[in-house]
Amino acid sequence: MKIGIDRMAFATTNEYIDLRELAKVRGVDPNKYTIGIGQDQQAVVPPTQDIVTLGAAAARKLMTKQVGDHLSTIIVATESGVDNSKASAINIKELLGLNDYVRAVELKEACYAGTAGIQFARGLVALHPQETVLVIATDIARYGLQTAGEVTQGAGAVAMLISATPHILAIEPTSVNLTKDVMDFWRPLYATEAMVDGKYSTNVYVDFFKQVFTRYQMMTGRQFNDFAGLIFHLPFTKMGKKALEGALGDRHDQVATRLRTALTASQLYCRQVGNVYTGSLYLALLSFLQNRQVNAGDRLGLFSYGSGAEGEFYTGIVQPHFLDHTNDVQAMLQKRHQVSITEYEDMFNHQLGMDEQDVEFDLSNDHAPFVLAGQKNHQRIYKRQ
Ligand code: CAA
Repeated sequence: MKIGIDRMAFATTNEYIDLRELAKVRGVDPNKYTIGIGQDQQAVVPPTQDIVTLGAAAARKLMTKQVGDHLSTIIVATESGVDNSKASAINIKELLGLNDYVRAVELKEACYAGTAGIQFARGLVALHPQETVLVIATDIARYGLQTAGEVTQGAGAVAMLISATPHILAIEPTSVNLTKDVMDFWRPLYATEAMVDGKYSTNVYVDFFKQVFTRYQMMTGRQFNDFAGLIFHLPFTKMGKKALEGALGDRHDQVATRLRTALTASQLYCRQVGNVYTGSLYLALLSFLQNRQVNAGDRLGLFSYGSGAEGEFYTGIVQPHFLDHTNDVQAMLQKRHQVSITEYEDMFNHQLGMDEQDVEFDLSNDHAPFVLAGQKNHQRIYKRQ
């Protein structure tokens, strides 16, 4: 039985900044951001958006009555949860108006949990092939104003339906996981911004990729030439380049060229949105599928990495007519509007965060399908528009 990704959709905020402008204000050479880090734009989050509204906006694009009727489970993967107890999957289920007879949970392991959600969903679908599972990877990457991590922030959600009729990617059974207790990136309960040992985190990432890919090669006998593309978790686009070049070394044959071209296609959306943590690998997959000549039957390798640290390499086979089952991300990104660095800083400083006061936000500037209207009696108030 084939099991895999049946449909995919992405949502992000309507606001972004140009990183050349950020570089000017921060007194940095813009080439550092656009070439050294490999980012051009970054999603900006107004106070009226969070992981629930973004996750619901992405999932809404997949929903039909038929999908709703077969849905058994909603798994939300996030690093930036909005409650220490309640699963954001329940808020999203409510905003989408889904049937009460579903299971709804939240998963956490930094940027890796979306992949765990997909693997758990495969197990559920194997037991009940008529049912589908909705996996939503939704995050806001926040490091803080004027920090080294600032240029690697971002926000967005990728929603995916996992089913026994995968129209995008049939996931193959072999995967390799690697778990080690590493303090490269973490966020204590009292913090709204991530703490990170930046350079160390990039080295751990590269090392994890080498280890899981080498083990995969030993287990399966497959080599680089078995792949139409390797898709990476992209906290920033240069990270994927570091991992791929680390593995290819000075190889410059046809296969290496194919993998380098595939990487470029997979980086296009991340360049414009930034890091979306749990969703980054899947935004890279969408970017690859929508910007590269891909054929049904092509094998893709996916490298998922979550600081802390967990890595996984797994593979899938592209299905016929896969594009018909994704939303057009580039068209969506072109509709966003640019904000100034001052506006971005203002929005950054007005997130609900850890504040326990009642708040009512002005919703007049937010035309997204779902909004965070404020907080009352310690409860977040969400609205459909
Ligand atoms: N022109 C072109 N390139 C330039 C340049 C210029 N004028 N000035 C600098 N650069 C290059 C540097 O040579 C460097 O390139 P290499 O990495 O290829 O050597 C690059 O720009 C970055 O510059 P710095 O080395 O000075 O790095 P920094 O101190 O600005 O920090 C960072 C970069 C570590 C990525 C930082 O942004 C950060 O901490 N980000 C958050 C952590 C992160 O994303 N880690 C990724 C792995 S962990 C993970 O994947 C999980 C997750 O999602 C968080």
